[in-house]
Amino acid sequence: MTAPKDFNDRMLSLGLARVSEAAAHASARLIGRGDEKAADQAAVNAMRDQLNKLDIKGVVVIGEGERDEAPMLYIGEEVGTGNGPEVDIALDPLEGTTLTAKDMPNALTVIAMAPRGTLLHAPDVYMDKLAVGPGYPADVVSLDMSPAERVRALARARGCADSDITVCILERPRHEEMIAEVRQTGAAIRLITDGDVAGVIHCAEAGLTGIDMYMGSGGAPEGVLAAAALKCMGGQMWGRLLFRNEDEKARARKAGITELDRIYSRDDLVTADVIFAATGVTNGSIVAGVKREPGYLTTETILMRSKTGSVRRMIYRNPVK
Ligand code: FBP
Repeated sequence: MTAPKDFNDRMLSLGLARVSEAAAHASARLIGRGDEKAADQAAVNAMRDQLNKLDIKGVVVIGEGERDEAPMLYIGEEVGTGNGPEVDIALDPLEGTTLTAKDMPNALTVIAMAPRGTLLHAPDVYMDKLAVGPGYPADVVSLDMSPAERVRALARARGCADSDITVCILERPRHEEMIAEVRQTGAAIRLITDGDVAGVIHCAEAGLTGIDMYMGSGGAPEGVLAAAALKCMGGQMWGRLLFRNEDEKARARKAGITELDRIYSRDDLVTADVIFAATGVTNGSIVAGVKREPGYLTTETILMRSKTGSVRRMIYRNPVK
């Protein structure tokens, strides 16, 4: 196995940005066309093509699904030229397929890369998630607290009133009680219809986005991607897998997970230095969406490395034929 010190993330990071840019370019013509599947497929194809040009010996650990259900970028697929460091790849070629199809904010293409064996092989089940931005004491909130306790604890740590806190939550019937409890504290809630990777990232730039805390359940694979982003930007995150039936538990065991009720911290989800790239598909508070002008497509990508804490925003204008 390649030692983490040989993971040349400085050189690889630009290549990773190209991968997420390519996926956004490909899905651009499908923004607002009401076809989730076509948008996703275009992003998957482009991401895979670009990924296979990188000098890495990569394995997809978070991808489009199990081998029998996803023809491309399935979990376990080997990607890259094979010449280079052994790495784990976590990706979501189009995070927010419905957001893209409906031209709603915050659809992203997302990819993270880390040394082999350092990203949690999260099965495709739900994860209970909780995240806050940087600057708070360790474990300022926890998954074992009630939603109201979390708001109160965060407000105390920030030295503000409960009503000054804004929480981001996915709007789902399963979150109705959580939403009601947060509302009782007086805190504000930013409800999102999809896209909890962006939801979590929002906490890392509270000044820009106005969001202090993310909570609620969403996809476990998206949880690992969000943890990778927060590891680069700063901030704390916790996740606990949620199982609806025995089949889902079996999926987790197959992925090598033995402690099914474990609470994972950010650094348990991503155990070594990671690089993360996300490109805006539709406009959002983190990056702008793809801009189409006659003859050109312009994208904005956020590219980050946890080793240095560097966060770049890159504008890329490319002629289209
Ligand atoms: P897709 O891009 O695959 O449609 O996922 C969007 C998403 O909102 C994720 O961000 C989130 O983790 C998950 O779906 C939530 O799942 P559900 O829609 O079942 O509540």
